[in-house]
Amino acid sequence: MTPFQPFELEAYQSRWERTVEMNLADSSVQCLSTHEWLDDDEQQAVLHTGLFYPEVNGTHALRERIAALYPGATPAHVLVTVGAAQANSMICQLLLEPGDEVVVLSPGYRQVWGLAKTAGCTVREIALDPDDAWRADLDDLDTLITHRTRLVAIVNPNNPTGSILTEAEMARIVAASARVGAWLHADEVYAGTEHGSAGETPTFFGRYDRVLCTNALSKAYGLAGLRLGWIVAQPDVIEALWRRHEYAVIAAAAPSMTMAEFALKPAKRAMLFARQKALTTNGWQLLRDWIAQQEGRFSVQPSHATAIGFVRSHLAVDSLTLADRIRAEASVLVAPGSLLGAEHHLRVTVGYPTDKVRKALERIGDVARKLSRD
Ligand SMILES: Cc1ncc(COP(=O)(O)O)c(C=O)c1O
Repeated sequence: MTPFQPFELEAYQSRWERTVEMNLADSSVQCLSTHEWLDDDEQQAVLHTGLFYPEVNGTHALRERIAALYPGATPAHVLVTVGAAQANSMICQLLLEPGDEVVVLSPGYRQVWGLAKTAGCTVREIALDPDDAWRADLDDLDTLITHRTRLVAIVNPNNPTGSILTEAEMARIVAASARVGAWLHADEVYAGTEHGSAGETPTFFGRYDRVLCTNALSKAYGLAGLRLGWIVAQPDVIEALWRRHEYAVIAAAAPSMTMAEFALKPAKRAMLFARQKALTTNGWQLLRDWIAQQEGRFSVQPSHATAIGFVRSHLAVDSLTLADRIRAEASVLVAPGSLLGAEHHLRVTVGYPTDKVRKALERIGDVARKLSRD
């Protein structure tokens, strides 16, 4: 058996996030409390949700709302999961066997990367260019995706870089996967977090029959604590995943599904996205202003989505040492880039109230100034 590959990023966060005054290591925005986004009738509906086991694959009403977001999907194309985390994990469990090859973007959220290693697969990486706004280097696609490739796993928009694939890049990835019959997993949890007036990132669903798309209420909706996600794929694939879902969790939580039905109503969804985008826009402005004051100790590439700043450090220490110093000396948690596949970077999420972001960034700046004098 291959050794277990811990999920190092999540392990770092769960070990330290409750020990600091300010946590900027997560990748959501400031999440909501239940009373803040539900009207009185909706709150009553949540209170009256029955607590027997809910529909195991997700309530029909919720699967209808999810299916409506994907061209050509029906409720039979949908499985409701406990966050995107469970969705991604079950896809790996279903598809991967020792000896398979898996292709991922790097840097990236290393869930599929780690699960594939634990499953005994070889992981190959499509590099995102640190000097060109983290554009995907697709020149080697045909040598990376071969007949040995079982799964191509894309996160779009990307965590941590905030880059978004163009239509042409999406088409190239689909074509390369289809050429060898590889499964294509698109984790789309950051769709809806685009900056400025850019529209919502299009889904991979419907571009190829071997596509599995995952998403959740955790990022664009600011509702991570509901632990509510989903998979959209062809009905026979959903059936196979549903059989694994029964082993893993039986079903997502009933009150979370009630709330998810509300979150996906078009007007409510628009309201949640607008709130998240306002936090993201404000946070990014604070981050850019702060970087400008750092006398070259930090820089950042242009980003097109997410409230995540993937900040390059020009200090002479590695990212884990730097993050540890910031945690210990400033009581601020940021994520070391090495745990996302890019040394000398920090993942600093800024979709929080102004006071918190300003204060946390100031403290990071103080630690960096001290370090540059050491
Ligand atoms: C790309 C990506 N996928 C999945 C997840 C997990 O999402 P959830 O909280 O919905 O389980 C995260 C969380 O950071 C993520 O960044």
